[in-house]
Amino acid sequence: MKFMSRSSGYRGRGPRRSTPEGAHRPIMVEEILRVFHLKPGDKVADLTLGHGGHTEHFLRTVGTEGTVLAMDLDFDQAQITLSRLQEAGFAGRLLLETGNFAGIGQAMGKFGLPAMDAILADLGISSMQIDKPERGFSYRREGPLDMRMDPRRGETARGLLTTISAEDLASGLEEFGDVPLAGPMARAMLSAHRVTPFETTTQLAEFCLTWHRGTGSAQNPGEWRLRQGKKKWETHPAARVFQALRIMVNREIANLKHLLRVASDLLAPGGTLAILSFHSGEDRLVKSALEQGLRQGKYAEINEGPIRATFEERTANPRSRSAKLRWARRPLTPPEETEAGDT
Ligand SMILES: C[S@@+](CC[C@H](N)C(=O)[O-])C[C@H]1O[C@@H](n2cnc3c(N)ncnc32)[C@H](O)[C@@H]1O
Repeated sequence: MKFMSRSSGYRGRGPRRSTPEGAHRPIMVEEILRVFHLKPGDKVADLTLGHGGHTEHFLRTVGTEGTVLAMDLDFDQAQITLSRLQEAGFAGRLLLETGNFAGIGQAMGKFGLPAMDAILADLGISSMQIDKPERGFSYRREGPLDMRMDPRRGETARGLLTTISAEDLASGLEEFGDVPLAGPMARAMLSAHRVTPFETTTQLAEFCLTWHRGTGSAQNPGEWRLRQGKKKWETHPAARVFQALRIMVNREIANLKHLLRVASDLLAPGGTLAILSFHSGEDRLVKSALEQGLRQGKYAEINEGPIRATFEERTANPRSRSAKLRWARRPLTPPEETEAGDT
């Protein structure tokens, strides 16, 4: 199927890219390695393999006596990354499980790993996934309105718009995209979809742009005005909508909640969990789960505030600007069972 542009007028006007096509720059590598303080022989789980940037550093640090287990929902991309890592000299060294990181416990069981010294989740999607229009993640590149991280199963974004209620869509847009005027926008989007279903990413992007141009002048002056700055366009109104829909399509919040529930039990004594999140809803969840784990004695230590990328990294890699890193360390000895800590 060929996707014809309805000329949203936006193609090719995004920010200048800083990551080569087909690659993904790993974020806050030094900070993560510092938090994990890995040594040769350690066991690490990278729950979000992507391009394998973090994995590659883990493989190097734990050496041939160590173990790196990687997971990713995206089967095709995981195979590409596996070949890349093999060519980079890590042949036969990576344990790969393509699937949802909510199943990390089962994956560890499958590979005979009772506990990990470090677990990383770098949430969201990779640059490679955004770069492929056929995956439907990009509001700037025309493709089917899909957005599934695992294209072999589950409901597409188009399917979601067909079945979801206006109330649920509004709360998703607000919670996962911080979309202003989420209620009216959700109702308008579903009405438009009922008349002529959105088939492509650029059709939905065009709707978002048109809708915000209308409401921007009528109800919310300035909020969504598009300014063409000296160097780049400000955030396209579709960006937040696409983020929210992607999170809903892939049940990202349910997966993250599950991971946060089980992670401390999968760590070896003194082992560390680190999570990189990219929007406030995710970060709130991570923060409160780690704080609760600390109160309950599941963790001995957590970081006080989120760790942010350095100025240099934020300048070199715009994606790192919204990243927040949080970590939690398991006690060296198991916590005593107390009712009081069980809040
Ligand atoms: C931000 S990228 C990771 C980039 C990686 N750290 C690197 O250095 O290349 C996120 C990856 O996690 C995967 N992913 C997201 N949610 C997942 C889940 N619940 N289970 C497994 N993989 C997931 C996505 O398919 C994507 O490849």
